[in-house]
Amino acid sequence: MRKISKIAVLTSGGDAPGMNPCIRAVVRTGIYHNLQVVGIRQGYQGLIDNNMYDMTTRSVSNILNLGGTILKTARCIPFKSDEGMEIAYKHLKEHGIDGLVVIGGDGTFTGALRFSRKFPDISVIGVPGTIDNDLYGSTYTLGFDTATNTVIEAIDKIRDTADAHDRLFFIEVMGRDSGAIALRAGISCGAEAILLPERATAIDNLIENLKAGQFNKKSSSIVIVAEGDKTGGAYELAEAVRNEIKFYDVKVTILGHLQRGGSPSAFDRILGSRLGYAAVNALIKGETQKMVGLEANHIKLTGLEEALNQHQFKLEEDLMEMSEILSI
Ligand code: F6P
Repeated sequence: MRKISKIAVLTSGGDAPGMNPCIRAVVRTGIYHNLQVVGIRQGYQGLIDNNMYDMTTRSVSNILNLGGTILKTARCIPFKSDEGMEIAYKHLKEHGIDGLVVIGGDGTFTGALRFSRKFPDISVIGVPGTIDNDLYGSTYTLGFDTATNTVIEAIDKIRDTADAHDRLFFIEVMGRDSGAIALRAGISCGAEAILLPERATAIDNLIENLKAGQFNKKSSSIVIVAEGDKTGGAYELAEAVRNEIKFYDVKVTILGHLQRGGSPSAFDRILGSRLGYAAVNALIKGETQKMVGLEANHIKLTGLEEALNQHQFKLEEDLMEMSEILSI
């Protein structure tokens, strides 16, 4: 079995609440097992720039409650090239690093898989960290729970004012390819409609539903639009219905990046801790090219390739149907 003596950890792609608890778990689990632990700043960019530092148990004190990532993150184009990967490899070798934990989403894993195929002497374990909840092999990804709670808090406030003024709000939430946040937030806030990238939006049906709501004496309506909805964003959709929905004043709110910030929920702190702990244990056991995830409340390893190939969020039709019935 391959023996690991020095590991590095990085966060890459969009930040997600829970990354800091995960970094803390990686560092402390590694040190507990007598490994040296290095932090890489700004994701893969830090590998290319040789931007790394030795971490101690105190490097991760009092970070469980912090949003963002103490290691910083980036979407790094140079790492996609062979040349970028070779520089990154050279720096890892110079530091004597033989194991790498990467925390991020599908872009991060794509880079990790290519890199570890090219340089198999460095073991790589991925931790699913993205608010989009769209990775196969883990029922939940880090940050999804916190982001959904942030969205719910915002929509509840919008409902107050929508109801006071008899208004229809189109609220756009994050999810370029994933309707996971939109669906969960829609159920939690009783949205009258939820529009997602995974399902074609029929404007006629939407208008009919909104008219039916008014007929049923609803004084406000909320339509949640995931940013990846194929019909367009919240502004386009609001324009498409405005002339047909005279009984409501139509307004638009884009929640934007506030969804990615904030202190991680209890769920994300525990998930980050469990996944970080499991990632280091997997490296010690000689695993590589795997993702650690949580399924049925148990840690599970999935091949990075499988996690990527099947990564699309599968629309839970039963939840959609339930949401439609409960919001009449
Ligand atoms: O991947 C997470 C995510 O928040 C997506 O939902 C969103 O489309 C994207 O990141 C936004 O990325 P950026 O902050 O780079 O604009």
